[in-house]
Amino acid sequence: MSTKKCVILFSGTGSNLKNLLTNEFLHSDRLKYISAFTNNPQAKGIDVCKLFNIDVKISSNKDQNIDLRDFLETYNPDLVVLSGYMKIIPDDVVKLFKGRMINIHPSLLPKYPGLNTHKKVLDSQDPYHGATIHFVSNELDGGAIILQGKFEVDKNKTEEELKNITHQVEYKIFPKVITWFANDLIKLEFDKVFFKGKEVESPIVYIHHDKK
Ligand code: GRF
Repeated sequence: MSTKKCVILFSGTGSNLKNLLTNEFLHSDRLKYISAFTNNPQAKGIDVCKLFNIDVKISSNKDQNIDLRDFLETYNPDLVVLSGYMKIIPDDVVKLFKGRMINIHPSLLPKYPGLNTHKKVLDSQDPYHGATIHFVSNELDGGAIILQGKFEVDKNKTEEELKNITHQVEYKIFPKVITWFANDLIKLEFDKVFFKGKEVESPIVYIHHDKK
């Protein structure tokens, strides 16, 4: 069986990028990270790529989607991972990579698509918060959900503290989903997620216990 090729798109710090590259060994016989792409020349994640010796394309074009299309055409990946990529993927690219593009989002979707999720959780006094990994669709943060990581919210925590816990959750669930994809355990069919050939009717949830 051939090894799948995966690329990672990012825009900022790249802590998930670092965690994914660190955990590549979990599936490296089945899926390898071959390159990365960023739309932000200042992204700290660029240093992460250097550290891991992985090629990174830094978009310099005014229309960054032109660079993105070129990048994807060059590498022809089996999987595209959005790891803190803060730009909307154009419809034609979403269509081309349907079922082969995965995003991570810092909320329990469908709650709080978009930005400032940690603040929204605190403002609404939600009992739970977490992160979601989903296939990418044309709707912002709206594709079929694969896995969620969930934790109980201590309402005395600050936004920054919630963000940090959410990151800890993300570091657990993201490599897991990539390993599932690498091993052909998850699939998108008819806009539904199938896990080991069975339709996932409600998202699979990993419960995280915050060590205070
Ligand atoms: C993560 O919280 C991810 O869910 C969101 O962007 C953030 C990226 O953080 N899409 P990092 O760059 O991986 O540190």
